[in-house]
Amino acid sequence: MRYAHLEEHISRLRTTCFGFRKIPVEDKTRRVLQHFNRVAQKYDLMNTILSFGIHHLWKRQAVRLLDLKAGNLVIDVCGGTADLSILAADAVGDTGCIIVYDINRSMIQAGVQKLKALTVRHPIRFVQADAERISFPDELFDAAMVGFGIRNVTRMEKCFEEMYRVLKPGGKLMCLEFSKPANPYFCRLYDLYSFYCMPLLGSIIAGSSEPYACLSETIRTFLLPEELVAVLERIGFSSVSYRKLTWGIAAVHIGIKPINLRLRVVA
Ligand SMILES: C[S@@+](CC[C@H](N)C(=O)[O-])C[C@H]1O[C@@H](n2cnc3c(N)ncnc32)[C@H](O)[C@@H]1O
Repeated sequence: MRYAHLEEHISRLRTTCFGFRKIPVEDKTRRVLQHFNRVAQKYDLMNTILSFGIHHLWKRQAVRLLDLKAGNLVIDVCGGTADLSILAADAVGDTGCIIVYDINRSMIQAGVQKLKALTVRHPIRFVQADAERISFPDELFDAAMVGFGIRNVTRMEKCFEEMYRVLKPGGKLMCLEFSKPANPYFCRLYDLYSFYCMPLLGSIIAGSSEPYACLSETIRTFLLPEELVAVLERIGFSSVSYRKLTWGIAAVHIGIKPINLRLRVVA
């Protein structure tokens, strides 16, 4: 189901998609919470194994596109175990600050443990809350990023609207998410890997195949890059562009909150 239909479907029937299944809207947040409670402790390890380490390169490239400066204030929405935040922290330095904004306590705890194990101190703070209602005032952040999280939010548009609201005029949005490879042969290979190997590896390493079968389904039902551009532009972002990563397995979108020039005509 494509995005415009999906939004209409959600508001009309109060159901949404969780992978290939249709479920009541109220159920999605609960299921997403359960899902990440189950995988939190092995989340980083599984990411590295399942992506052959490539997710680190994607994240590095995505954060670089934000062009962060020393002193910047950044929000990492659905920030989980803080991978993007750690990269961003290197760019903003001691005078900046990164907020990891995530709904799941287990994921946050895994992130806190990871930071403690690092020798370098990072200006990173964690907030446990829902990305559909960001508890920060308007126009506070220089940049807002979301990495592999927007798929999990029930009302994606609401989340992007909130990111738009908390960005300063001129501030940048970055969205890193899985996508669909364009090449049909590669796509078939990727399907085999994601629908068969990933759940198998999940059951061997993490002790459960279901979260990883579900991961492949949510990836498959997510928007194509052009569709995501349209969503971001509808919200108000300008200069929206995207870059495909590793033959289109993932895509990184960048958008800017326009500076509202209020011109006063002097008579
Ligand atoms: C796949 S993880 C991504 C973590 C991290 N950004 C990364 O790139 O590794 C998705 C995260 O989104 C969080 N999440 C899902 N729904 C959320 C919501 N409504 N509000 C805030 N966080 C949410 C989950 O708890 C989880 O930590």
